[in-house]
Amino acid sequence: MALLLCTYQKMAYFCVTLNPPFLLKTFDIIATTLYGLEEILAQEIRQLGVADVTILNRAVKFQGNLETLYKANLLLRTAVKILKPIHAFRATNENQLYSGIKNMNWEEYLTIKKSFAIDAAVHSSFFTHSLYVALKSKDAIVDLYREKYKLRPSVNTENPDLRINVHISESMVIVSLDSSGSTLGKRNYRLEQGDAPINEILAAAIILTAEWDKKVDFIDPMCGSGTFSIEAALIAANIAPGRNRQFTFQTWLDYDAQLFERVKAEADDKIVPIKAKIRALDIDKKAINMAISNARRAGVREFITFEGKDFFETELPNGEGIVVINPPYDERLHVDKVEDFYDEIGSHLKHKYHGCEAWIISSNFDALKRFGLKPSKKIKLFNGSLECRLLKYELYEGSRKMSNPE
Ligand SMILES: C[S@@+](CC[C@H](N)C(=O)[O-])C[C@H]1O[C@@H](n2cnc3c(N)ncnc32)[C@H](O)[C@@H]1O
Repeated sequence: MALLLCTYQKMAYFCVTLNPPFLLKTFDIIATTLYGLEEILAQEIRQLGVADVTILNRAVKFQGNLETLYKANLLLRTAVKILKPIHAFRATNENQLYSGIKNMNWEEYLTIKKSFAIDAAVHSSFFTHSLYVALKSKDAIVDLYREKYKLRPSVNTENPDLRINVHISESMVIVSLDSSGSTLGKRNYRLEQGDAPINEILAAAIILTAEWDKKVDFIDPMCGSGTFSIEAALIAANIAPGRNRQFTFQTWLDYDAQLFERVKAEADDKIVPIKAKIRALDIDKKAINMAISNARRAGVREFITFEGKDFFETELPNGEGIVVINPPYDERLHVDKVEDFYDEIGSHLKHKYHGCEAWIISSNFDALKRFGLKPSKKIKLFNGSLECRLLKYELYEGSRKMSNPE
């Protein structure tokens, strides 16, 4: 019988059904994400063929088998990590935490020859320091092996064979295996970047939110290191975002290399030619060179036209398209008279980008108010620690007048 362990905390994204091992064909999977991207991630998970998904706080829970886990890592554009919960128990002090972790059957996942690392997150009045929780949990695992074998697996925080995630919400401790390793935003193409690059996961989520039909032009007029145009090309060509990276599940004891090769080959078979034009522009020629190198590494160089140009000297040539702008916010990247700058972007869009749909993300709310156009959508998101608004403008004939974007 399934053991249902459910926390009632708002913060707790784990509400886990743990099945007895002999039934473990399918298991719970938690895909974590960024603030506000839960719904778009849930849609992506449904597209993997998963029928039942539960939206949680910055995460989506679903069920699947090893194949689903491999696909989730390889294919999801808006997930940060894919976790596999393996155990849940209650603890209100460090001794209970220590024995709860020590009593687990770690030999199923870890041998003395392997290395491991622990990440902890706590939202609890019983435990207040995540580093201390990680340390206590590490001690429990090390002591377990040392007492039994007089030897212990090593700790490797950079590149472990097994990355363990300990999540505590009040007294509920959930132990998961982190199947991804580094954040899935690390697609291994953006090795060169400017001062204010947008997170790859956020960029992909914005393009998916915009529901670009992949036929009209996609324009990234302040492209910096090229994240939007590269993510747009990956989406349009249906290229798996994780194609050029490794995942921690590849060092798990149950790693099925043949299965993963099949999953990758099936993903490659679904790559399609791109119909739309993708244009990346920036006033800074150095940024354009970086973006070109990044696009080359991502395998999409041939699909993007790069131009070193001032946005204010460009226009929409075909009368149809989607423009995604990540202008300087005057935070990490400074701009003289930032409000006037946004005012000019708004009027340039109005006059030279007729017929298109524009999406702008910025944390500078005062400057956004100077856009001079009425947004048809406003979405709260975070770019790193910066609270932002993603605004949609429909630049058709007689676009509506301004209203407050907040
Ligand atoms: C916030 S960064 C964009 C970051 C980009 N999304 C990335 O992921 O790297 C803003 C970019 O706008 C560019 N920029 C500023 N003024 C511009 C203008 N008038 N025309 C074109 N690009 C401009 C800057 O050179 C900078 O690269």
